[in-house]
Amino acid sequence: MLGLLQNLLRLSVNKQISNRSNGLFGIYVHWPFCVHKCPYCDFNSHVPNSRSLGAAFDEREFVQSYKAELRHFAKLKPNETINSIFFGGGTPSLMSPQAVGAILDEIASLWSIDENVEITLEANPNSAEVARFKGYKAAGVNRISIGVQSLRDEPLKALGRAHSVSEAKSAVAIAQSIFERSSFDLIYARPEQSLEDWRVELNEALDMAAGHISLYQLTIEQGTRFFDLHRDKKIIMPNTDLSADFYALTNELCSEAGYPAYEISNHAMRGEKSLHNLLYWRYGEYVGIGPGAHGRLIIDDVRFATANEKIPQVWHKNVYANGHGLVTNDKLTWEEEGDELLLMGLRLSEGIDPKRFELLSGRSLSPEQIEDLKGYGFVEQLKNGFLRVTDSGFSVLDAVVADLAA
Ligand SMILES: C[S@@+](CC[C@H](N)C(=O)[O-])C[C@H]1O[C@@H](n2cnc3c(N)ncnc32)[C@H](O)[C@@H]1O
Ligand code: SF4
Repeated sequence: MLGLLQNLLRLSVNKQISNRSNGLFGIYVHWPFCVHKCPYCDFNSHVPNSRSLGAAFDEREFVQSYKAELRHFAKLKPNETINSIFFGGGTPSLMSPQAVGAILDEIASLWSIDENVEITLEANPNSAEVARFKGYKAAGVNRISIGVQSLRDEPLKALGRAHSVSEAKSAVAIAQSIFERSSFDLIYARPEQSLEDWRVELNEALDMAAGHISLYQLTIEQGTRFFDLHRDKKIIMPNTDLSADFYALTNELCSEAGYPAYEISNHAMRGEKSLHNLLYWRYGEYVGIGPGAHGRLIIDDVRFATANEKIPQVWHKNVYANGHGLVTNDKLTWEEEGDELLLMGLRLSEGIDPKRFELLSGRSLSPEQIEDLKGYGFVEQLKNGFLRVTDSGFSVLDAVVADLAA
């Protein structure tokens, strides 16, 4: 009898361990090219054919490398069903619809595709790119996310954007007429922006939105032109209190308009959350292809963190030689998995399931630590047992995560 119980227990532990994923599987395709480099941006983006990149860029040849990388990952994870595909950048709307279609066809030839698959492409609102929207739809894209950044011309100029407000508005309207699902991004808490300016701009944006909007506070990233300007005091950023006020105002206006936050920077009407975002923040599995792309894959119950070579031409050569452009392929320890689950999941308004934390990390969250943070009003426990960060906790999220992970 004892032996039977032990076997049952072992079976249930095995079942749990093989369930390290959350059941969702996605593909992230990074297209690293942009028309020019925006002064605030530290994403892996390069201007093609620029002197710093050296060799000339040929889209068709690059697409061959994307397809080769997909085949590499399909050998490692052959029997998955794809829930989400995300073309991010850089500027994927510089891709021809044929290139997007070729990558999607390769994915469909290697894996099963879920009938409700979400296929998103990030687009810049320049007219040349908007002209490709119908082609993307024909290729299989069913959701578009547009980098509007501001609904005011002056800040757009200051952000170094290559489009006007009217181009951005027209891109959003055209996207909404072609795609059933769309979103756009704005950057706020910008230098010289007042709360009152933002209130008016955000309300305008919410009137334009069609179910989903991403709102990012401007961050100053090392290695960007804004970093130097900020260091030299030529850009003055809002102080901590004002940033917190911007954040609170954003949540208030979005909630009033029916766009509650489901993640720190992402707001959606019911049924319009981005599957790609959920998969990522709920710590699911995804293949990352293209220069600089990251991935998280579970192989034989071990989660691997992958990262690709960032320089496009070097990545391309490596894929040609080896079938992949990986420069990192690390086994994560259970502890690291637990830390990542907290780091990602606590950004979500739904929070994290402490039982899943236990399953991944092999340890429990400290009840004393949780009580402490509850005392400060930074976290709360929901009826379903999930632990979530409160609005006031979000302004000190890094500290909350560090506390819980300790
Ligand atoms: C991959 S990026 C850019 C996508 C697209 N190339 C564009 O520029 O519209 C995705 C989003 O991150 C946001 N972003 C990039 N750098 C940022 C920064 N330093 N601070 C805040 N938001 C940033 C922008 O809103 C941008 O739309
Ligand atoms: S913000 Fe977008 S367009 Fe500008 S450099 Fe970064 S990825 Fe490219």
